[in-house]
Amino acid sequence: MAEAPEAVDEQFLDVEKSLAGEDDTQVDDHLERHDDSPRQLDLRPPRHSLGERKETSKDSSKIISSGPCTPSETVQDREADSPSGTRSRELYKIVSQVGEGTFGKVYKAQNMVTKMYVALKRIRMEAEKDGFPVTAMREIKLLQSLRHENVVRLYEMMVSNGVVYMVFEYMDHDLTGILSQTQFTFTPAHLKSLCQQMLAGLAYLHHKGVIHRDIKGSNILVNNRGELKLADFGLARFYHKRRQSDYTNRVITLWYRPPELLFGATIYGAEVDMWSAGCIMLELFTKKPVFQGNDEIHQLDVVYKIFGTPTVERWPSVMNLPWYELIKPKENIPNHFRELFQKWMSPAALDLAERLLTYDPSRRISAVQALEASYFIEEEPPAERPVGLSTLEGEWHELETKRERAKKRKKETAA
Ligand SMILES: Nc1ncnc2c1ncn2[C@@H]1O[C@H](COP(=O)(O)OP(=O)(O)O)[C@@H](O)[C@H]1O
Ligand SMILES: [Mg+2]
Repeated sequence: MAEAPEAVDEQFLDVEKSLAGEDDTQVDDHLERHDDSPRQLDLRPPRHSLGERKETSKDSSKIISSGPCTPSETVQDREADSPSGTRSRELYKIVSQVGEGTFGKVYKAQNMVTKMYVALKRIRMEAEKDGFPVTAMREIKLLQSLRHENVVRLYEMMVSNGVVYMVFEYMDHDLTGILSQTQFTFTPAHLKSLCQQMLAGLAYLHHKGVIHRDIKGSNILVNNRGELKLADFGLARFYHKRRQSDYTNRVITLWYRPPELLFGATIYGAEVDMWSAGCIMLELFTKKPVFQGNDEIHQLDVVYKIFGTPTVERWPSVMNLPWYELIKPKENIPNHFRELFQKWMSPAALDLAERLLTYDPSRRISAVQALEASYFIEEEPPAERPVGLSTLEGEWHELETKRERAKKRKKETAA
């Protein structure tokens, strides 16, 4: 059998080795130990399967081997050498692929016992010379310490035929996918709810001392109950709330990257996520990413076209940033934000977006402050979850959006 105990043990040893040896020789910015983070993963075999797991169990997301649970894809791959009867012992059956990421594929799968759907994120091991991938390790460690209604739940880890999967709660859509479809129209109350839920998730992360560092549409999941959850913690890290640390600035997808990182800042905190949240807020209204730069310099130009060029009054410390002299704006552009966006957004929404997309990171609004904005507290209509999404045909993830676009392009070139 492919899932011989030896193979599984080896996998776990690698996990332990990576945990013990994780330092700044493996990643470009060092990872501090955090009191909340478990130093030792639980490598014991499971006492119960996911099916029997009680929701109240406090420490349910543990590394466990689910032994004979074999996703059907793997079974098909190995049909020739697997004895008949393997199928009856499958715990998860793969339904479809929903994501294709940098670090591995994501599948929708069904738990054959509970009939519940989960997302299986396959951890790609081929490219790893040094055992268990650091990014995956980081994501697992962080997710294990998080529990919030606006953060995706990691149920458990699973090893099947030597392949490691993260088992997540299943989410029907992601924001990139859901904003690209035209069947379901979001009302202003829905958009307010999505924005509020995103900020609540961020407020929780930042309170726990975690910076996400990759907030963008495809990493924000939405389900048919209208719930929004932050996902993909592959770039996230713990930070010191009081002491500012030296980090890499090559984080956050270009279009959502704040100006201080584009100017080379390596000392930053949770404010970087708040800029990205501002980008997402605008995107909710316009349905498209607003700052679509081709490279770092162009990215700044695209932001200037809307928000004007940063001045010393608006951002006194900008001049001290490493690359400021090198790439500083050549001309003065005024701020056009309100003129450009008032056709999409209410006055209080404009106010909040402007406070999220503030150049000076020290003046940028925090997630907790943002939740107290008059947009949420005073202005009509009150937030309302888009529960009508359950009537929507299909499931919308970035992957489907990309495939649709490719199909359309093919049709156009054929015509
Ligand atoms: N729990 C989930 N439920 C449904 N789809 C998911 C889930 N997690 C991820 N996905 C889909 O898979 C894609 C890639 O997953 P992600 O965690 O962002 O990995 P990557 O690091 O490869 O970007 C996401 O953009 C989303 O569309
Ligand atoms: Mg992602």
